[in-house]
Amino acid sequence: MDKKNRKAIIAGNWKMNKTATEAGLLLDDLIPLVEYAGCEVVVCVPFTDLKTAVDKCAGTNLHVGAQNVHFEKSGAYTGEISADMLVDLGVEYVVIGHSERRQYFAETDETVNKRTRAALAAGLKPIICVGESLTQREQGVTEELVRLQVKVALLGVSAEELKNVVIAYEPIWAIGTGRTATADQAEEVCAAIRKVVGELYGEDAAKALTVQYGGSMNAGNAAELLSKPDVDGGLIGGASLKADQFAVIVKAAAEG
Ligand code: PGA
Repeated sequence: MDKKNRKAIIAGNWKMNKTATEAGLLLDDLIPLVEYAGCEVVVCVPFTDLKTAVDKCAGTNLHVGAQNVHFEKSGAYTGEISADMLVDLGVEYVVIGHSERRQYFAETDETVNKRTRAALAAGLKPIICVGESLTQREQGVTEELVRLQVKVALLGVSAEELKNVVIAYEPIWAIGTGRTATADQAEEVCAAIRKVVGELYGEDAAKALTVQYGGSMNAGNAAELLSKPDVDGGLIGGASLKADQFAVIVKAAAEG
């Protein structure tokens, strides 16, 4: 299976931006711009915007994602949101293990694995984020580190469940910095991710896996990044908050 047969997915990660009212306005702008997108388009919005997003996106080609999920089904976990709560709202995707969660909220490979399994068990599609810091890149351990992150994230995930998994390669040094990985750097690591998934689940599963790049992807650089054979889509932060820019990236993915 080559790239053309895989699902290209462009997902916006709004992070902690937009009130529910603002989210509605942004989606009003975005929906017509991506109406005929030739790829899957997802908006991963703050928890408080999910209901608005699900309602607005109903009957459109946009899919809605959350930005985190707790791994327990229910119970005394003040402030947390379960996978069942997301599914009940009509949420389809969930970002797991974003580097900002790893950096500021003590997320580890182990909790990424727990969240991934909980999400899959509830029927959500996890977008699992992996990626190295600048120091780790300079130390030459990027591939080893990313392989480990992927392996631990997928512990206990069945081959059937893997069909619902998306992996996003997000070099930490490229997130929100305006410093994008070169297309060759993105390709190298996305290919390494596909390779390790192949080792774990076999060639066919690896070929079917959607691997995204994320980190300062924007309207200007998306086409080159998305033209690479193992870059199947993008996880977009800053540029997903501007409907026109995001739409350009969506178009680039359909052509990539
Ligand atoms: P950025 O964020 O596009 O603003 O760099 C990407 C991400 O964190 O997913």
